[in-house]
Amino acid sequence: MTTTIKQTQPIGIFDSGIGGLTVARAITKLLPNEQIIYFGDTAHMPYGEKSAEAIKNYSVKIAEFLKFKNCKMIVIACNTASAAGYKAVVKSTGMKDLIVNVIDPAAQYVVKNHYRQKIGVIGTKRTVSSNVYAKRIEALDPLSNVVQLATPLLAPMIEEGFYNNKISQTIINSYLGKSKLSKIDALILGCTHYPLVKAEIQKFYGKSVEVIDSSEIVALHVKSVLEKHQLLNPTVPSKFSFGKKAQQFIVSDYTQSFEETSKIFFDEKVKLKQYNIWE
Ligand code: DGL
Repeated sequence: MTTTIKQTQPIGIFDSGIGGLTVARAITKLLPNEQIIYFGDTAHMPYGEKSAEAIKNYSVKIAEFLKFKNCKMIVIACNTASAAGYKAVVKSTGMKDLIVNVIDPAAQYVVKNHYRQKIGVIGTKRTVSSNVYAKRIEALDPLSNVVQLATPLLAPMIEEGFYNNKISQTIINSYLGKSKLSKIDALILGCTHYPLVKAEIQKFYGKSVEVIDSSEIVALHVKSVLEKHQLLNPTVPSKFSFGKKAQQFIVSDYTQSFEETSKIFFDEKVKLKQYNIWE
């Protein structure tokens, strides 16, 4: 029996922790009618240091949980999980067209806007070692030129509140000054934490390099997929129906410090609920 998906069902969004809230924020800004259920796997973060097999298993379990919560679409708001878990999530949920990862929309964007130019990518060790950006961009343009650099200090640095200050600018300059990234035309921020340091990265390059914040590109992609499937929610939210109040933010391990840090990623206060799907 096939069940009909309704426009009013929520969008599920997940990440290894709270960094994916930058994607959730971009989606709710662009699509304020949509209800979201966000799941941050704080019990297992950081994914950037885990094996591909472990990340795949976590991703499948979370996606199945979001499907069980009646989500009409699932957004893998984590580069590391998109690299290691996307195929397995598509297979296990059977929601192929309605599973969005954060890598393909960025790959499509650079091929369209920076054709045959030199593209840099920064991300976690796992994302960079998977070579996923180069592979997906090459699939669209076999003669593309992609260089990648792991910048593992940036995510914990941001979580500790070090951004927009001298220390963060020094660390950023030291990574971006590496010869691997020389003479690039565009840089993909391949980690959901990095939109918070976009301005500092842009400052390093000036106007010569486009710094690509994939959270905005992913939000536009989510909108077009929902439009294509006629699944955009037309209901105008009110605080009595499911306006912002009914947005759900779930983590697998709650701490007050996660809740406080969430604010910097979502740009407003977030109430986290703990739910351990592994129990
Ligand atoms: N949010 C993850 C990503 O986009 C990075 C954080 C982690 O290592 O868990 O890759």
